[in-house]
Amino acid sequence: MDENEYIDWVSAVGAIILGHADEIVDTAVKAQIDRGSLYSLNSPLEIELAELLAETIPSAEMVRYSKGGGEACAIAARIARGTTGRDIILFCGYHGWHDWYQAANYLVDPESGEFPFAGIEPIGVPRALAGTAIPFPYGNLQALEALFDEHHGQVAAVMMEPLRSELPPEGYLEAVRDLAHRHGALLIFDEVSSGWRLSIGGVQAYLGITPDMTVVAKAMSNGYPMGAVVGSRDAMEPAKRMFISSSYWSDNIGLAASLTTISELYRRDSEQRFQEIGEALRVALNQAIADSGLQGACTGLHTNPAITLQLPDESLRPKVNTLFVQEMARRGIHSYTSFKPTLAHTEEDIRITAQAAAESLAIIRKGLTSGDLDSLLECDIKKEPFRRLVK
Ligand SMILES: Cc1ncc(COP(=O)(O)O)c(C=O)c1O
Repeated sequence: MDENEYIDWVSAVGAIILGHADEIVDTAVKAQIDRGSLYSLNSPLEIELAELLAETIPSAEMVRYSKGGGEACAIAARIARGTTGRDIILFCGYHGWHDWYQAANYLVDPESGEFPFAGIEPIGVPRALAGTAIPFPYGNLQALEALFDEHHGQVAAVMMEPLRSELPPEGYLEAVRDLAHRHGALLIFDEVSSGWRLSIGGVQAYLGITPDMTVVAKAMSNGYPMGAVVGSRDAMEPAKRMFISSSYWSDNIGLAASLTTISELYRRDSEQRFQEIGEALRVALNQAIADSGLQGACTGLHTNPAITLQLPDESLRPKVNTLFVQEMARRGIHSYTSFKPTLAHTEEDIRITAQAAAESLAIIRKGLTSGDLDSLLECDIKKEPFRRLVK
């Protein structure tokens, strides 16, 4: 709008994986538009994508499509409840806006700052659903076990983000799976954010742990609406008897975009390339932190490196993080303190980003030294609308 150019490290909150306006995906989409986006009969692309997902994602034997991640999570919750004949979902992570999930906020006082979604009131969500979806803290097996004991024989599934920006503790996900199975519940990985980058087959392929069902969306179609629930035949076959349907779920634009995006991830050797980009970014940002004289580090997985500064007082963090976002934007970099690489990011982008980070961090240091961050801030303080539970 203002004719400014930015290097984008937010990447549409992870939905862009090849890069914005990728020529190959967009060409496939345009060709599909010319052939028609939605037919009265099923399209062969539905089968083609299902086969590709089954080859790519370890847990995939059957597939259901959706147009987004939250919607796919709601489908997975429905299938898990229908398959097991039980009502309760134990969850860990962010799983969208739907009632089944947001009802969890009736379990706590929204203003208490407790999880799951501090500061979000479940306005419009039926109170009758309270207690049907219950959060558990990541990494704490005892807490999960206690919930299984408390709700013995009532838990349909554990739905969780397997990780976000750090690897899970050794053996944790396996232990969660065993615990769920011991209690007759299904394990669902929500790979809406974790999918596609670390490995094309998701965290489950990267770590070698296969859940019963998996939710994918976002990056699978590089910016065109698409999502899916995939899973074992045992978990998903009963879905045939459940009413789960929507007009646009298998529209051909999303299918064509997904088929092309996933093929391109393979063709561009994405796993190796993400390793290279992430490592180079981390090294460059750590150098910028060191040069600034501030204490801190850029850490986390190469698919989501993040800067954390050591501050004299934790209450300064919202201001410091906001100042970082502000100063980076001023220098043509759209980022948070964490970074979501795409395959379009180049070594030159990393160099420019690190230069901007060094300058932004120098300004933060100035503000910290003078004790006057406020006079440097020209925008509202960045808000954290909710805590995600998963590191
Ligand atoms: C792990 C996870 N699940 C579900 C969702 C919701 O997906 P969508 O925004 O496509 O509905 C998100 C979105 O950020 C997510 O990160």
